[in-house]
Amino acid sequence: MEVFESIKSLQQSLSAIGQNLTIGLVPTMGALHEGHLSIVRKAQGETDRVIVSIFVNPTQFDKKEDLVNYPNTLDADLEVLKSIGCDYVFTPNIQEVYQGKTRSESFDFKGLDQVMEGKFRTGHFDGVATIVKKLFNITKPDKAYFGEKDFQQLLIIKKMVALEFIPIDIVSVGIYREDDGLAMSSRNTRLSQEQRLAAPEIYQTLLKSKKLFQNGDLAKVKSFVKNEFIQNTELNLEYYEIADSETLKSAKEILADRKYRAFIAVFADKVRLIDNIALN
Ligand code: PAF
Repeated sequence: MEVFESIKSLQQSLSAIGQNLTIGLVPTMGALHEGHLSIVRKAQGETDRVIVSIFVNPTQFDKKEDLVNYPNTLDADLEVLKSIGCDYVFTPNIQEVYQGKTRSESFDFKGLDQVMEGKFRTGHFDGVATIVKKLFNITKPDKAYFGEKDFQQLLIIKKMVALEFIPIDIVSVGIYREDDGLAMSSRNTRLSQEQRLAAPEIYQTLLKSKKLFQNGDLAKVKSFVKNEFIQNTELNLEYYEIADSETLKSAKEILADRKYRAFIAVFADKVRLIDNIALN
């Protein structure tokens, strides 16, 4: 496994890869867990060489506190990536990537960024798309892999690639969960023991809401979810939304030919957790 901090040295090494070999990119912010590894393994199964980038991107954080507290486990990350046979790791610093201009580009995501995560985290998706576009330009992969836990991010990146005519296949990878159902996230390590014990309630509630959704009464599903969290002393509901899986528009009624997903964001004190589930 080769590790690069500079764009130039990474690109030099990548240029030695034969033209007929395909490259898969897995962008991450480090603090790797099994969820990330499942994405890397998928990339390894579908492409000839895999690059994992590790970069905590400042422009996508709306709260400085979140950025400062973001876990840094670089040594352990490199070790685990080596153990699973990753080919290249790109670990640039901020200067290397942003060249003194740590600002987001502004994108028109056609409304995908106006709801849920975009509504509650101002500028977040411009920051995500800015760094992902830079990583695409730097590494020029054939395919890039993103987890479905950040389903809205996945759609935003697909939209960015379409708007910018970027010839990269965006591949989605299903949510990887702990045995008790909690979606894997780097933030889970910041949960207290009590919060960690309470956290599986998020997925349990999504599952129950999926069952209720079959009855077709959206208002009932939403009020059920609200009530579940009113009774929970460790978790505070930020939003629960039922949205069209393609447009992310809030569902007003259930149309037979559309696919819907439930999205949830919950606070365990200051730790923000998100999850989602396909409803039909
Ligand atoms: O999902 C993430 O970890 C980040 O948003 C990403 C895609 C690596 C961009 O910084």
